[in-house]
Amino acid sequence: MSLIDWSQRPYALVTGASEGIGEELALALARRGTHSLILVARTRSKLERVERRIREACVSLGHTEVDVKIICEDLSATGAAEKVFQATKGLPVAILANNAGMAIGGPTDNLELAKVEQILQLNIVTLTLLVQLYTQTLVDAAAYYRARQHLYGKHRMAGIVNMSSLSALMPIPHMSLYAASKAYVLSLTEALHHEHQMHNTGLAVVAILPGATVSPIWAKEGADPSKVLLPFTTMDDVVRATLKALDSNKAVIVPGYLNNVLSFSVRLAPRWLVRRLAYIFMRQG
Ligand SMILES: NC(=O)c1ccc[n+]([C@@H]2O[C@H](COP(=O)([O-])OP(=O)(O)OC[C@H]3O[C@@H](n4cnc5c(N)ncnc54)[C@H](OP(=O)(O)O)[C@@H]3O)[C@@H](O)[C@H]2O)c1
Repeated sequence: MSLIDWSQRPYALVTGASEGIGEELALALARRGTHSLILVARTRSKLERVERRIREACVSLGHTEVDVKIICEDLSATGAAEKVFQATKGLPVAILANNAGMAIGGPTDNLELAKVEQILQLNIVTLTLLVQLYTQTLVDAAAYYRARQHLYGKHRMAGIVNMSSLSALMPIPHMSLYAASKAYVLSLTEALHHEHQMHNTGLAVVAILPGATVSPIWAKEGADPSKVLLPFTTMDDVVRATLKALDSNKAVIVPGYLNNVLSFSVRLAPRWLVRRLAYIFMRQG
């Protein structure tokens, strides 16, 4: 049994919260007023900007008790998950949003080993270790809030959100490691969702599968979203779908109507066709 004081406002820990989807997710969670925030990423100046945004939003909404903490950590480094866990020891963390992720494109043969290690460590290893390290705390949170859920309306207080991707559903030549890493996240999350349902822990465990979404991630890989013939969702669409999945404990959610059509088609189509089409789309960006 943990020694955490659950009568305090709980925290939502969001990785990759310094920009992009993670920033908007952290802001949306703060706007609810139910959770304080722990923002994790590498760049302190960007995290401080997000912290200011959150504090301003909370003041204007009257959620003055919402606290914001910053943890600067490179989550692709060995031992990063343990460092984050130690830095939050004793805090009532009730939501873990594993959002940080990176993409690398290009022929797989040409990738530098260091980059390969970085993406696997960030997208797979650290995400998994954070889940393992925080699960007991999150299950304790779920148990505490189960009896008090009526105080928070439809807002689910305890859960794990793992940011996968629509690319989890298909092998993507020239983006092989990214797609494979997101397939891992999807499979892990679905299995965990089922385990927690079977054990009746009350902990929500959800995988989010955004399709192409305009965010800084594209520029980091030198890709131009305007050249890609895919249905684009906004970060708001992704955040709204994420909170809906969390509140309803939906195992897997695909934000956006057209992306749902796409995901349905991918599941029906033969794999050889999916591979070829994925390759063609990759070459556009
Ligand atoms: N945008 C899309 O089209 C799309 C589609 C499907 C899925 N997704 C997934 O959604 C998630 C968020 O994507 P996004 O588009 O918002 O990406 P983004 O704009 O590139 O933001 C990524 C965030 O992760 C942080 N981050 C990156 N590397 C990190 C590291 N080594 N250690 C700690 N933090 C790190 C970045 O902050 P620092 O640089 O400050 O560390 C930033 O806050 C990712 O998992 C991505 O795979 C995105």
